[in-house]
Amino acid sequence: MDFHTAKALLDWQLEMGATEAIGDFPVDRTALEPVATKALAKAASAPLEAGPAQADAADQAVSDARLLAARAGSLADLKAGLGAFEHCELKRGARNLVFSDGLPGARVMILGEAPGRDEDAQGLPFVGRAGQLLDRMLAAIDLSRTSMNPTDAVYITNVLPWRPPQNRDPRPEEIAMMLPFVERHIALAGPEILVLVGNISCQAMLGRKGITRLRGQWTEAAGLPVLPMFHPAYLLRNPAMKRAAWDDLLSIRARLDDMR
Ligand code: URA
Repeated sequence: MDFHTAKALLDWQLEMGATEAIGDFPVDRTALEPVATKALAKAASAPLEAGPAQADAADQAVSDARLLAARAGSLADLKAGLGAFEHCELKRGARNLVFSDGLPGARVMILGEAPGRDEDAQGLPFVGRAGQLLDRMLAAIDLSRTSMNPTDAVYITNVLPWRPPQNRDPRPEEIAMMLPFVERHIALAGPEILVLVGNISCQAMLGRKGITRLRGQWTEAAGLPVLPMFHPAYLLRNPAMKRAAWDDLLSIRARLDDMR
């Protein structure tokens, strides 16, 4: 099949409402041989073996990211810089660059993990079920992403701006090449407080995982007070943890009130 025929077929499928690339026939994966299932899962999640060539490519990616991020004098420049960054494979599989939502200059900045399906489709962070829960959590302490007033507004972004396939965890090398952009993003947005939701943003900003131990403990990163919290997607799966999340929300509210 030539390129133009393949492209026309793909466009037709999108027009008909196809949103996921899946096979022609359903596969009952629960009926697969356990060993084969394990091997498939391992192959899908294993980071690429890093030989010398890959290590060079990873170094190059990080230094190009640093250069593009440092050149950005505004959030618009930074978004354009990400658009021009070609080292991250995730970009090729994503529909949209998911940059941010909310008000730049808001007192609170939220850093999530990576876009999911809904975010990829709409080009905005945290718009799916987890995002709706995040909005309700923020509303409980009088914060909102739609506010135009920096005092009660929030600014939201993710460590990765492109959706990983099947929402797999971002790989360390993907986080490393995005970190210069994230750090510049924080500097340009200028929040007073940074909230890290979930393990991936803790890994990126604090170099540590283990959200159950990290959550609720104020620390510092990028020259700012930082609070790690459970990810709203985790809270949807573990509603009993909402109590801890409520404590953390109150802690954010108290910190904001103290800093006034
Ligand atoms: N989870 C995230 O971490 N970010 C999003 O934008 C959506 C879901």
